[in-house]
Parts: sequence; C-alpha cells; structure tokens
Amino acid sequence: MKILVVGGGGREHAIIKKIKENKNVEKIFALPGNGGIAADAECVNISATDIEGIVSFAVENKIDYAVVAPDDPLVLGAVDALEEKGIPCFGPKANAAIIEGSKVFSKDLMKKYGIPTASYEVFTDMAAALEYLETAPIPTVIKADGLALGKGVIIAETRQAAKDAVVSMMADKVFGKSGDRVVIEEFLTGPEVSVLSFTDGKTVVPMISSMDHKRAGDNDTGLNTGGMGTVAPNPYYTEAVAKECMEKIFLPTVNAMNAEGRSFKGCLYFGLMLTPNGPKVIEYNCRFGDPETQVVLPLLESDLLTVMQAVTNGTLAETKVKFSNSHACCVVMASKGYPTSYEKGFEITIPDDTANTTFVAGAAIKDGKLVTSGGRVLGVTAVSDTLETAIKKAYEKVDTIHFDNAFFRHDIGAKAMKATEEK
Ligand code: AMP
Ligand code: GLY
Repeated sequence: MKILVVGGGGREHAIIKKIKENKNVEKIFALPGNGGIAADAECVNISATDIEGIVSFAVENKIDYAVVAPDDPLVLGAVDALEEKGIPCFGPKANAAIIEGSKVFSKDLMKKYGIPTASYEVFTDMAAALEYLETAPIPTVIKADGLALGKGVIIAETRQAAKDAVVSMMADKVFGKSGDRVVIEEFLTGPEVSVLSFTDGKTVVPMISSMDHKRAGDNDTGLNTGGMGTVAPNPYYTEAVAKECMEKIFLPTVNAMNAEGRSFKGCLYFGLMLTPNGPKVIEYNCRFGDPETQVVLPLLESDLLTVMQAVTNGTLAETKVKFSNSHACCVVMASKGYPTSYEKGFEITIPDDTANTTFVAGAAIKDGKLVTSGGRVLGVTAVSDTLETAIKKAYEKVDTIHFDNAFFRHDIGAKAMKATEEK
C-alpha cells in the first residue's frame, strides 16, 4: 500500500513510524514532512494547508490511504477533498473538524447536550465583552474562537489582564479572524488529562491517557507552548474516572455530533480537567495531540493502520485496540528562546540506537546534515515497566542527543510521579 501522511511535526513522525510496522505498507509519503521524518518516509514539499496540491499529489501517486494529522487541513476540508477523489482517509470532514475549529461551536454543543464544561459567555462585540469583565469572577479565561496555533487561550489573573486579552484579540487582531468572536469562561481547577480516542462515529475507543506539560519552564513556569513533554498513562485517570468520562463525555460527544449531522470519524482528542465537581471538557481537538502521540502510539500494541482503516470503514467495534501495560515518557528538546524567538540551523546529532524513539519536529537537511529549523526540535520517548524508569531512560536518551542552544524541561513526569506516590 502507498500511504500519504499530511503534516510535518513530531506527531506525524510518530504516526509514520507506527504505520511502517504494517507489512503491507510499501511506501509512505509525508507532505511536507521534515528533515528527520525523511529517514522514515519520502518528504514532498507540499504544504499541509495546500489542499489542492495534496489532492493532486495523492491522485497522481495513486495513494491507497491518507492520514491528515494537523488541525488546519482538517478544518479546511482536506479529508472531504481527498474522499471526493475516492481516496480513503483517516480524519474528520470539515463539518466535524469544527469541533476544534470553533470554540463557540464546541461550547454551544456541550451546553446543548449537557456535556460538562466550564460555564461561558460568547462575545462578538468588544464593548460588551469589556463590560462583562467589569464584574466577571477573576481569574477568568479568554479564548479566541478560531484556530490560533495553540496560543488563543489566555488565563487572566487580573481584571486588567482579561481586558487586555480581549482588546488584543478583538481590536488588535493578534490571531486574525480567529479573534472576531471570543469565549469568556469560568476558570476551572484540577489535574489535566489528555485522552485521545479512535471513533468511527458509532464506537469510541479511548487510547491510553496522557499528561502534557504545556509551560516552557520547569515547575510549570514560563510561557505556554505547544507542549514540552508527556507521560502516559496519566495516574489521575483512574478506572472510575475513565468510566465517568465515557458515560458523561465521550459517548455523549459522539452522539451529539451525529445528532447535528456532523458525524466525527478519526481521532477525537478530549482535553479534560478533573475538577472537584467531576471531569469537565477544557477543549476538543479534531486530531492526535502533539506531543501526546509520541507517548501514546509507542504503547499501542495493535496495528495502527488496521485500526485507522476500521475507523474509516465504520468497523471499529469489531477491531481489537490494545495498549501495553507499560509507561512512556517523552521529553521535548527545543531551541533556546522558544516559544518566542530562536535561532535555527544548528547541526543535530542523534545516536543510531536513540533514533528509533526520537520523533523529529523542527529539523531540515542542509548540506547532507540534519539541522534545527523550528522551536520544538524533537521529542525523545522511552518506554518502561514503571513511570520512574521511563522518565529516567528518556532523560538518559536526551543526554545522548546534541545541538547547540538546546533546552528542555527537567521535570517531565514529576507531577505524575508525585500523584503515583500519593495513590
Ligand atoms: P487550550 O489551548 O484550550 O488547550 O488551553 C490551554 C490551557 O489553558 C489548558 O491546557 C488549560 O491548562 C488552560 N485552560 C483552558 N481553559 C481553562 C479553564 N476554563 N480553566 C482553567 N484553565 C483552563
Ligand atoms: N498537546 C496539545 C495539543 O496537541 O493540542
């Protein structure tokens, strides 16, 4: 089979490495991929948002199956366009990807179908939003409606910070049209859990749970990032919590999307907060998380491509999806200065025995050498019997990888270790 994977980050690298395990796969193309992915797939310089380019490439190269991994092409309708040409795909159509593409849509969906989430108000008028903030409880959370590269959420600790956030989104348009509408929502507390799930629109199969580390610095300090590391499973996600989430969140969400005529097929990501009043949805994503995928897929024992095809064919209920009982830890190595500004072009050295579990996110090939080209450069994953040893091994691997100006968090998994010890 010839497979096409749209995207070019660490998540896509993890997906590609896993798909490669299937014996029927002859060739994998990555659009656009990156310098590190080039070791596992043929990278083609077509942007992940160039829907026409992607479709023409897929048709010309007689692609048998396509995986659309990032949010923007999904929201732009890449799956619709590929399927129109008869190419089976993994990923939701645009009318279902809106669950991530519009926060107003997802909040209204949850309200309509009684799915637990933070209470909220929607504003299209800046003056009304600012007036509301005069008396709103603080801290409060301001969210741009549309996609904003994961940066569209501001937790405001003061009334002034909340107003500044509204002005930057609605007047200064820091996220462009994504800030035409804003959601102002209740500030929730509790441990966060990421649950990626496979769903074919009928059955939902949650994958092993995980915990992201979003802040740039140790002990959750510094700016929010795309994610600096992950562990799986998440110790806060007990069997009882999982059962409650299935009943109150996962199934109701899939059913709600069906009721709206927006059946969701693909990976539905539930960003959850385990509040004192039970689990609540912080966000939905219409795709695999990054860097959650880098810990979740290495623990998947079943064949990924088979599961993906079952999602496409609507046969997920009859398909075995098994995860190992091990633990995984992924440490992201970034370029100093990320998530704001950073230098590029430093040579990366990865020993051969580490390459297999290294997922490259921001690297290019220059003069035959792998060099840094992004903020998050790569993620290193280790799998082991216990969380403690998974963390230790991941950091041992980090020590063997080199590039100038590298930085990483030193405490990935520390919170999960504490939770495990308290159990
Ligand atoms: P998001 O971009 O939606 O993942 O949000 C980024 C982060 O903001 C989340 O991972 C949470 O840590 C935090 N967050 C979002 N919504 C809320 C909320 N209502 N209450 C508290 N924290 C939140
Ligand atoms: N790691 C969070 C995300 O993929 O949105």
